[in-house]
Amino acid sequence: MLSKVRDKPECTDEVQVRLDRVSKHYGNAAALTDLSLDVRRGEFLTLLGPSGCGKTTTLRLIGGFEVPDRGAVAIGGRDVTGVPPFQRNVNTVFQNYALFPHLTVFENVAYALRVKRLPGAQASERVTSMLDRMGLADKAGRYPRELSGGQMQRVALGRALINEPTVLLLDEPLSALDAKLRRTMQLELRRMHAELGLTFVCVTHDQEEALAMSDRIAVLDAGRIAQIGTPQEIFDRPANRFVADFIGGCNFIPAISRSDGTIIMPECKVSPQTGPEAGRGIVLAVRPHSLRLGTPEEGAIIELAARVSDIVYLGTAVRLVLSLADGLGLTAELGKDAVEKSGAKPGVVLRLWARAQDVIVFDAARSGHDPH
Ligand SMILES: Nc1ncnc2c1ncn2[C@@H]1O[C@H](COP(=O)(O)OP(=O)(O)OP(=O)(O)O)[C@@H](O)[C@H]1O
Ligand SMILES: [Mg+2]
Repeated sequence: MLSKVRDKPECTDEVQVRLDRVSKHYGNAAALTDLSLDVRRGEFLTLLGPSGCGKTTTLRLIGGFEVPDRGAVAIGGRDVTGVPPFQRNVNTVFQNYALFPHLTVFENVAYALRVKRLPGAQASERVTSMLDRMGLADKAGRYPRELSGGQMQRVALGRALINEPTVLLLDEPLSALDAKLRRTMQLELRRMHAELGLTFVCVTHDQEEALAMSDRIAVLDAGRIAQIGTPQEIFDRPANRFVADFIGGCNFIPAISRSDGTIIMPECKVSPQTGPEAGRGIVLAVRPHSLRLGTPEEGAIIELAARVSDIVYLGTAVRLVLSLADGLGLTAELGKDAVEKSGAKPGVVLRLWARAQDVIVFDAARSGHDPH
């Protein structure tokens, strides 16, 4: 039956899930505030953000496990606000998999069909084909305690997919796995998503995972959407300081814009550029891997001298922990060879620079940072 689903278009502009200005409080504390989000049909959308920002709450609103205080939830164009979970064509893979320990792999996957009272032979056929798809055909008779983390995860996925939901919700589906298995399963989830053509809404607080798996990422900050876009948009053009810092890490250098250019710190020279009006406080955002060592080349926008306070070896790259004369801390990530050549060691002052295209200018007032 699932093969039918495969014929669906991969990702369309059609909205599959719509959250329309939803708010959710627990007691007096707001978990979500006025949040609007469209998930397109066939899309792999990831909700990303720090602990407590409202990711699980958003997922639970879509699944019907919570009702918003205000706003509406629609699935497939139908208003489902207040409709219970079992009346929505949505399934959830919970963080801890929530497998039934006393049921075998086969029985776990068959459970939803039993509840629906599907005739035995028909159910059996569907479960067998699902176990095949999940690479679990030879584990059908095992109990959850006899499985590895990755296998349990696939059972949980199979159990959620057997009902042929139109939307699959995944709450931190890979958090229990070790780093290597996690990367394998990220690819597996992507492959499965492409194959089934379903709409996936996935939650993670791991930015690398979100970048690797998603068609689009919604970054949440304290119950609001800070930015939504493709992984590349979010990484290359973060909308604000929060997103820049949360995804990829970032140095923030306060500056004042001037009509003849932009200068602030004694040891930081910034080339003229268009941007906020003269006299305004701005923040120059530059990622650690975008800082370069040595004499600035054509196109340099920031030049600075910074004292090395620590050197951390990361394998092929080296992280330099630096400070400017006024005490502002910076981090640079550079190739091992370049660092060795520079003679970097704690106490040494190094020249660093960054290209214009690698620097993002934020308005200090809007980014929550005012250098005054
Ligand atoms: N049942 C509840 N009762 C009271 N407060 C809750 C409840 N569930 C969530 N919260 C609060 O709502 C906010 C959002 O919680 P939520 O579980 O959605 O965060 P999250 O982004 O999923 O975090 P994590 O990454 O830690 O899982 C948090 O401040 C949390 O403490
Ligand atoms: Mg959560």
